[in-house]
Amino acid sequence: MERNNHPPVPSVFVIFGASGDLTWRKLVPALYNLSLDRWLPEKFVVLGMGLGEMNDARFRDHLRQGVDQFSRRGKTESDPWKEFAGNLHFNPTDLTNPKVYKELAHQLDALDKSWDFKANRIFYLALPPAMIETVAGHLAAAKLNQDRARARVVVEKPFGSDLASARKLNRILCELFEERQIFRIDHYLGKETVQNILAFRFGNTLFEPLWNRQYIDHVQITVAEQVGVGHRGQYYEHAGALRDMIQNHLLQILCLVAMEAPVSFKDDEIRNKKVDVLHAIRPITPDEVARCAVRGQYASGWIEGQRVASYRAEADVGNDSRTETFAAIKLFVDNWRWQGVPFYLRTGKRLPARISEVSIQFRPVPHQTFPMSAQLDWQPNRLLLAIQPEEGIFLRFEVKQPGPTLHLSPVMMQFYYREAFKATPPEAYETLLLDIMEGDATLFLRGDQAEAAWSVISPVLDVWETVRPTDFPNYPAGAWGPEAAEILIAQDGRTWITPTALHCREDLAVCRIAVDGTT
Ligand code: BG6
Repeated sequence: MERNNHPPVPSVFVIFGASGDLTWRKLVPALYNLSLDRWLPEKFVVLGMGLGEMNDARFRDHLRQGVDQFSRRGKTESDPWKEFAGNLHFNPTDLTNPKVYKELAHQLDALDKSWDFKANRIFYLALPPAMIETVAGHLAAAKLNQDRARARVVVEKPFGSDLASARKLNRILCELFEERQIFRIDHYLGKETVQNILAFRFGNTLFEPLWNRQYIDHVQITVAEQVGVGHRGQYYEHAGALRDMIQNHLLQILCLVAMEAPVSFKDDEIRNKKVDVLHAIRPITPDEVARCAVRGQYASGWIEGQRVASYRAEADVGNDSRTETFAAIKLFVDNWRWQGVPFYLRTGKRLPARISEVSIQFRPVPHQTFPMSAQLDWQPNRLLLAIQPEEGIFLRFEVKQPGPTLHLSPVMMQFYYREAFKATPPEAYETLLLDIMEGDATLFLRGDQAEAAWSVISPVLDVWETVRPTDFPNYPAGAWGPEAAEILIAQDGRTWITPTALHCREDLAVCRIAVDGTT
């Protein structure tokens, strides 16, 4: 996470599966933005590998459409795009053919020669999990893994589909590459606001003394999506919300909220502290699953006035599908800091809004000094870390309402990234791709972390696979999940906090309504 102020050394991105969605929507828009910000090395090439009737020109046109559609900066301008696009090439290839890798090795050697520099070689596996073993094996057979300092392999999620397959994948990759060469991506770790959890916690003295079981009642992590499963039905049918979101993104956020202070910002130091959290999560026994975890699947419904189809009516989804599109889970971190503090995690598709938030709910004051009449609106302190779409931090506290009578009322202290820094933060992939070029693994999962995260959710996965849901679909699109999710938290005398960041923008009055929980 320590960034030099100059671009990385010459680098080649070899993207396997380059004709796919990820390259189009995420990787190339991110690389293009890095190029506009002058973060790309002058000597830089993207080599797209994959099936497809494409040549360089068609590849570039196709990628330009992606950038126009998905870049945070909007449409491309002609000159900078031309300058960037000259570095994009496509090799139509059958990735199962070993010859391809020998040719690739020659191509890379030739580039090094023409640049008079031994460039970083980044092998980006934007591939379905089943292909990873094949491609990694061929790379090793062509000796493309051997330069430990400059050959890097990037693996996208899902990293396995359960603990056993993640272990197998780790074993294979670790036989072929050193751990420092392997970059397992969880794009949430590249989001500015997710990284900011560490800055906020460990760059300030104010909150850390309160950041424990003595002052915190519970923590909620919500990652809500408005979109449905779209055209990813085939993948999603085998994944579901628990594997797709909780195993990785939500557990990583939990780690950042719950970890101990690192001694330094060295990658392994931070990763050690995070993995400690995963190891401390109390294992859920099979008979506890029904009380600690809830699953749901969306029926048809309404999103922003539009009628949307049920999950079972989506493309490539079975009409009796039992895949969950919503999951909520209650976890405990068994250590000194967090003993007895529940962490409630929930995520789902076709929820009312796209909004991700961490809510730290503080305990009530130990003694109420004020008369009952003064406390009618009284609410305990709450800290909201808003991850997206509006990025900010909000602190709720009590003040005296102006006037002759003593009346306490909650108000919100607000910080918006956009306003404070007058800039939109870079996309997660911009940060991550730059880190890969610089060889900084801080924001990537280490093998043991990925396995530990699978261990956390394995008991739930096992029970859910054995005990089939009988009530699917059980929430209409546009609702905050099934009723059972409300019960999960209500049985502890708590309620889900309606994400508030959206409401807080306007003015304090609107904000007050939101914190009162009436919206
Ligand atoms: C991906 C999941 O990892 O994250 C998707 O596979 C999900 O299902 C996406 O939609 C959400 O990412 P973001 O950055 O849009 O919140």
